[in-house]
Amino acid sequence: MPRTLTFPDGFIWGAATSSHQVEGGQTNDWSEWEKKGLVADGSFSGAVTGHYERFEEDFDHAQALHHTAHRFSVEWSRIEPARGVWDEQAIEHYRAVVLALKKRGMEPYVTLWHFTNPLWFSQGGGWEQKGAPALFARYAARMATALPDVTHWITINEANAYATLAYLIGYWPPEVTSPLRAHRVFGLLVNAHRSAFRAMKQINPNLHIGSAHNMIAFDPSHPNRILDRWATRSANRWYNDRWLRATSDASDFIGINHYTRQDISFRSFRQPISAEFTGEPKTDFGWQIYPEGMYRVLMRASRYRKPVVITENGIADAKDRWREKYIRDYLAQVHRAIGDGVDVRGYFHWSLLDNFEWREGYSKRFGLIAVDRKTQKRTVRPSARFYAAVCSSNSLSVP
Ligand code: FCB
Repeated sequence: MPRTLTFPDGFIWGAATSSHQVEGGQTNDWSEWEKKGLVADGSFSGAVTGHYERFEEDFDHAQALHHTAHRFSVEWSRIEPARGVWDEQAIEHYRAVVLALKKRGMEPYVTLWHFTNPLWFSQGGGWEQKGAPALFARYAARMATALPDVTHWITINEANAYATLAYLIGYWPPEVTSPLRAHRVFGLLVNAHRSAFRAMKQINPNLHIGSAHNMIAFDPSHPNRILDRWATRSANRWYNDRWLRATSDASDFIGINHYTRQDISFRSFRQPISAEFTGEPKTDFGWQIYPEGMYRVLMRASRYRKPVVITENGIADAKDRWREKYIRDYLAQVHRAIGDGVDVRGYFHWSLLDNFEWREGYSKRFGLIAVDRKTQKRTVRPSARFYAAVCSSNSLSVP
C-alpha cells in the first residue's frame, strides 16, 4: 500500500548552486588552476552554464517547479577583486539576484565561500596567510550590510572536503599533500566561520547563520577486523564530527551536505576520499546510492542540538535514470529522521542546473535542469517534475 509522508509545516524546499560552478566569467584561484589542463573534460569553470546572465530564466524554472527557497553562493573574487577594494557593480548584481528570488517567492540562502578564493587571497598564502579568518570576516560583514534582505547565511562550504582534497590528497588547487597543513587549514576555516558569525551578528543579531558540512556514512570494510573498526571511528571523528564540534555553538543551524557512504579499511584510511565502495547501484560519479546514510548522518548531526537544513543532496546522473528514485528514497529517510526527533527545517537538492563539477568538469551532471553545453539551452529533466510535486504538496508518496 502506498503511503504519504507529510513534512512539517513551513518545510523549505529548493535547489542549490555555487558561483564558480554555474556563473562563468570569474577570475579566481580555480579559474587560474584550470589553465593547467587537469580538468577531466577540459572544460572551464561555469561558462557553459552561464547563470550570471541567465539567472532570471533559471529562477523562472525553479518557481515553476514550486521551489520555495534557493541556495546560491556569492563570488568573493568578484566582490573584493583586490584586497580591501569592493566592486559595487558585483554587489549590485547579487542584489538583483536576491530580488529576483524574492519576487518569485523563493527565500534566498546565501553561501559566502564555496571553495574559490580571490587571486590576491590565494597568492597571499590562501587560508594559511596571516589574518585569513579576519579577512573573511570583513568580507562576510560587508555582504551582511550589502544584502539586508537576506536572513539565511552559510559561511563556509565543506571545510572538511576542502582541507582533504586541496591540502591532504592534492587533488584540487593548491595541490598540497600535507596532513599538517590540511589540519591547519581546517582550523583556520573553523576560525573563519566563527569570526564571520560574530561579525555578522553584530550587524544584525536576527540573521540566521550556519555552514554547510559534508557528511559521509562510514562503515568498516570488514566489521570483524578491529583495525577497520578503529579506522571507521577515526573517519567519523575527523570527517563527520570535528567541524560540528568546533562550530555548532556559533551556528543558528547546521547545514548538511550528504551524498553517499564509504567503506573504510585500515589501508584505505590513508586515502580518505577515494576509499573503495561496495554494492550497487552507483551514480555516474561511482558514488554508492545508500539512502539510509541520510538517516544516519542526520541522527549524528542531531547530537549538536541545532536545527538542521539539508544544504545539498543529489546525484550525478546524465540520463536521469536514478534521480527520481534517489530523491524519493533519500527524502523518505529525511522523514524518518524527523519522526525520530531530528529538527530538519529544509532540503536543497544539488543542483538546480548541470554545472562545472570541479576537477570532473562537465562530465558529471547533477542538474534537475539539463544544460546543453554548446547552446546553454535548459531542459527540465523528468525527475525535476517529480521533485516539484513533492515541493508543492509538502509530502512524498512512497510505495
Ligand atoms: C559537494 C560540493 C558541491 C558539488 C557536490 C557534488 O561536495 O559542495 O560543490 O561539487 O559536492
